[in-house]
Amino acid sequence: MGYPYDEPCCNASSNPRLEDWLGAASLTRRQALQGGLSVALTALFGCAGTVPRSGSTGPLLGFPGIPAHTEDALRVPVGYVAQVLYAWGDPVSAGPAFRPDAGNSAEEQALQAGMHHDGLHFFPFRDGAGGWVGDAGLLVVNHEYTDDGLLHPDGMASWNAEKVRKSQAAHGVSVIEVRRRGNRWEVVRPSRYARRVTAASPMRLSGPASGDALLKTAADPSGLSVLGTLNNCANGFTPWGTYLTCEENWNGYFVNRSGAIPEAQRRYGISAKGAGYRWHEFDLRFDAATQPNEPHRFGWVVVIDPFDPGSAPVKRTALGRIKHEGAMAVLAADGRVVVYMGDDERFEYIYKFVSRDRYDPTLPRKDLLDHGILYVARFEPTGAGRWIPLVHGANGLIAEHGFASQAEVLVKTRQAADRVGATPMDRPEWIAVHPQSRDVYCTLTNNSQRGAAGKPGADPANPRPGNVYGHILRWSEQNADAAATAFRWEAFLLCGDPEHADQNKRGSLRGDLFGSPDGLWFDARGVLWIQTDVSTSALNKGDYARFGNNQMLACDPASGEARRFLAGPRGCEVTGVTASPDGRTLFVNIQHPGETAGERSDPAAPQAVSTWPDGPAGGRPRSATVAIFRSDGGAVGA
Ligand code: FEO
Ligand code: CA
Ligand code: CA
Repeated sequence: MGYPYDEPCCNASSNPRLEDWLGAASLTRRQALQGGLSVALTALFGCAGTVPRSGSTGPLLGFPGIPAHTEDALRVPVGYVAQVLYAWGDPVSAGPAFRPDAGNSAEEQALQAGMHHDGLHFFPFRDGAGGWVGDAGLLVVNHEYTDDGLLHPDGMASWNAEKVRKSQAAHGVSVIEVRRRGNRWEVVRPSRYARRVTAASPMRLSGPASGDALLKTAADPSGLSVLGTLNNCANGFTPWGTYLTCEENWNGYFVNRSGAIPEAQRRYGISAKGAGYRWHEFDLRFDAATQPNEPHRFGWVVVIDPFDPGSAPVKRTALGRIKHEGAMAVLAADGRVVVYMGDDERFEYIYKFVSRDRYDPTLPRKDLLDHGILYVARFEPTGAGRWIPLVHGANGLIAEHGFASQAEVLVKTRQAADRVGATPMDRPEWIAVHPQSRDVYCTLTNNSQRGAAGKPGADPANPRPGNVYGHILRWSEQNADAAATAFRWEAFLLCGDPEHADQNKRGSLRGDLFGSPDGLWFDARGVLWIQTDVSTSALNKGDYARFGNNQMLACDPASGEARRFLAGPRGCEVTGVTASPDGRTLFVNIQHPGETAGERSDPAAPQAVSTWPDGPAGGRPRSATVAIFRSDGGAVGA
C-alpha cells in the first residue's frame, strides 16, 4: 500500500496438479496416490494445466519488454491487450451503478467493488473430472483500504456516521463471477455467487485463540465472532478451493488517546492518532482505549469459501496475529498444509504455519488450519536457516515472560517472535514457491531505517544499510519439504540502479530496472512475476528518477533476468496477479491510480494526478482489476 504506511502467496497455478501442491522433488504422483492421500485427488487434480511448463521448447520470457514511462497510461507489450474488467464502484451483481461524482450511498457501496484492489485469485468452474468448464469462474479480489478524499463527493468534510459506513463498505473482499467471450472477459450479472465481504460483515474466529479472554468484548462475550475484516492486502488459496485474505495495516483504524498506550498495542503500532480513517468517532469499536480487546480481533488470516455465498468468513488464529501481507499455501511431502507469511513492517519477521493433520480430499477439512505449529524464520549469516516454533512452554514462551497460554502466544505473535530470536527483515511482503523446484522466494520491499541509529544494522539476509530499493531472498527447504525446520538461503537479487553514484545502491539486477518489489507470483511455466510498490512520495525522483511508474516484470528464476511487462498509470501501485487455467489471461490489479504523496486526495480536484481508467469524462481515478491477454490467444508471457 502507499499512504499512510509508505515508509513504515500466491499460487503455482490456478489449475493445480498434484505435483504442484506436493512437490515433485519429494513425492511422485504414484507414491502419493498409494499413500495416505486418496485417489479422489485424481478428480481434484486430474486436469493438468495445458500451459507449457518450463523445460518445454521456447524461451521462458517470450515477449518484447516495454520501456519505463511516467504517463497516465497502462502499457503492456506489443501484441497484448489490457482490458479493464472490474473497477471501484462497479456492481458485484445486478446494480447499483457507479456514480462518477462518488454519490453512491454506503448501502450502495456495499453492493459494489470496494476501493484499492490488492491480492486476487481466479477459481475456475470445474466439472466432475476436474476439467475447466465454460471459460468461467470466480474472481476474488481484496480491497485493501480507502482514499476518503475520493470516496465521498466532498471528501472528509462534515465527517459523519454515513461516511464511516461507506468507508467500511469500501473495504474487504469482492467475489465476482466472470466468463470469457472470445479473448475478452465480462462480469456475470446477476450471479448467485457474487458478494461483498466488508469491514462490517459478520464472521467467525476459530483456532487456539478463539474464545480466549483476550478476544472477548462487551459486544461479543464469546470471543468467537467479530464484525469485519480490515486492510486486506495480499492473499493465498488452499488446495480445497478457499480464499485466504490477509489483514495488514489494521492498526491504523484504531486510536488510543488515553496517554498510556499499553505495550500490547504499541508493539502493533496503535497510536493516539491512528492513520486518519476517523472511524472511531462514530464506531466506538475502534477506540482502543475503551475497547482494549477489539484490536486483538484483527491481524489474522481470514478464510472465505467463494463457492458458498452464504458461508461466513473465518479468522484462523493458528496462523498468528501480525500485519499479514500474504498467505502462500503449499502441501508438504506428507500432505500437511504449509502456509508462508510475511509481516510487512520494518524489522518484522517471516513466518510459516504447518498443519497438524494431512490434507485428504475425502475427509472434512474445515478445521485443518486450526491445528498446527506456527514457526518464525531465523536467517543465519552462514546461509543456513531454521524455523523456530512459537509454542507455549518452549523457547521461553512461558507465563513469567507474558505468555500464559498458546492463545496469548498467538495474540502476541510479534512479541513471541522477538523472544525466540527471529531475524528482523526489511519489510517482508509476498512469498512465492517455484512450481517445480519448490524453492521459496520472498520480497523484502525496502527499509530506509536499516542501520540507522538505534536500529538493527545490516546482516547477510538484509545486506544494505538504508535499503531504499529492496531485494528478493530465495531459500530451499531441507529435502525440498515445505514442512522442514531447516533451510538454506541466498539473496536472489538486490534491486537498484546500476548507474547510481552510490555503489551501495547499484544492486545486482539483470535486465530492466525496478525497485520496491512487493507482489510476487509464479505462473505454471515457472516465470516469476514481480510487482512494484514504490511509494508515491518516492516515485520518479531522487533514487527512483529513472524507474518510471509502478510496474510488473517477468523474471527467469534461473538467470535472474527481469523484463518489464506492464507499467501502470500515474500514482498507482501494481499488486495482485492470477491467471486463467490455460495461462491465456492474467488478471492484475491496479491500485490507487492518482494517489498523491502522503495524504488523501483533494475532493475538489479528484483528477489532479490521474484520470485512469475512465479518462477525463470519468469523474475520478479508480482502482481496477485488468484482464491481460494476447491478441493471438497465446499463453501470456510465452
Ligand atoms: Fe499492503 Fe505490504 O502491502
Ligand atoms: Ca508495499
Ligand atoms: Ca503489498
